[in-house]
Amino acid sequence: MSPHTPFGQPLLTFPDAEKSPLSIRAKALVFVDPRSRQLREELEQLAPRSISVLIRGETGTGKELLARHIHRASDRGGLFVSVNCGAISPTYADAELFGYAAGSFSGSASSRAGWFGSANGGTLYLDEIGDLPLPIQTKLLAALENHEVTRVGAQQPSPVDVRLVAATSIDLAQAVAAGKFHQRLYRYLSEGQLELPALRERVGDIESLAEYFLGIYSQRLELPVPLISEAAQQALDRHSWPGNTRELENVIHFALLVSSGEEILPEHLNLPPTPSPLEQIQQLLEQIVQSGSAGERHALQQLLQRTGLS
Ligand SMILES: Nc1ncnc2c1ncn2[C@@H]1O[C@H](COP(=O)(O)OP(=O)(O)OP(=O)(O)O)[C@@H](O)[C@H]1O
Ligand SMILES: [Mg+2]
Repeated sequence: MSPHTPFGQPLLTFPDAEKSPLSIRAKALVFVDPRSRQLREELEQLAPRSISVLIRGETGTGKELLARHIHRASDRGGLFVSVNCGAISPTYADAELFGYAAGSFSGSASSRAGWFGSANGGTLYLDEIGDLPLPIQTKLLAALENHEVTRVGAQQPSPVDVRLVAATSIDLAQAVAAGKFHQRLYRYLSEGQLELPALRERVGDIESLAEYFLGIYSQRLELPVPLISEAAQQALDRHSWPGNTRELENVIHFALLVSSGEEILPEHLNLPPTPSPLEQIQQLLEQIVQSGSAGERHALQQLLQRTGLS
């Protein structure tokens, strides 16, 4: 039987959760909404296969957590190595990812495996893979296809067995069309694809996630677990969560600190006030103005001006 949160919600947990060096937050995956349940099924099918996986999702949706679950469920003995491609220095990207031989730079007395080599036998998680410079993309594809990697300054390639899980918040197909992303690497990556919907598209997860984070932070801060009032829950369900699950986690953490400990009320949530219906219409029209065709834009701009909304 799968374990449950104190609130009766099913969780997917690592079998060796207590021995895991991961933070407690990385252990459970709260997936309750029908869209999330579907995603969990896809995850369970993809995880044991050795193909690479591309996870698409907005910031804070839980891409890295999903990647860690894929690694755990894959039974790969090696490490899960997480690298943010946006944070790699363009000058040293090659050496950082693929390692270097002793003496290849001034100051490099000993050799280094690099992130790719460190994930040998395990999983390499490349966050924001679209940020990787094109020449590095080419080398990455070669390393994945040939199962070998040549460190900077080395004469011989070394064998490596790495499973790649990559994440992106941008549309890589568009990046390929614009000549900014390697087409064959994209094809290689997208053998397995997981789409993590934004939190506002799986409202059914919000309550369980809020209770889950409340449980975790109460335990960590050694506080009693407060209830979430009906009005606070409604405010949580209505918010659009541009920062997704990470934003919800921060909101709950804050609410726990400022509440009296018995009940979370709307004023503890620190959410922006809900816009009035008129303001919502205005925001919606402005979004359409941004994305619409020239004709639509013109018509809507006139409408906004005439009604005094612009
Ligand atoms: N389904 C979930 N169940 C429990 N916790 C979750 C879930 N999804 C996300 N979280 C938690 O939300 C936080 C953000 O998740 P994570 O770092 O995986 O997001 P991300 O998509 O990688 O973000 P970014 O785009 O900023 O890199 C983490 O603390 C994570 O543990
Ligand atoms: Mg991340």
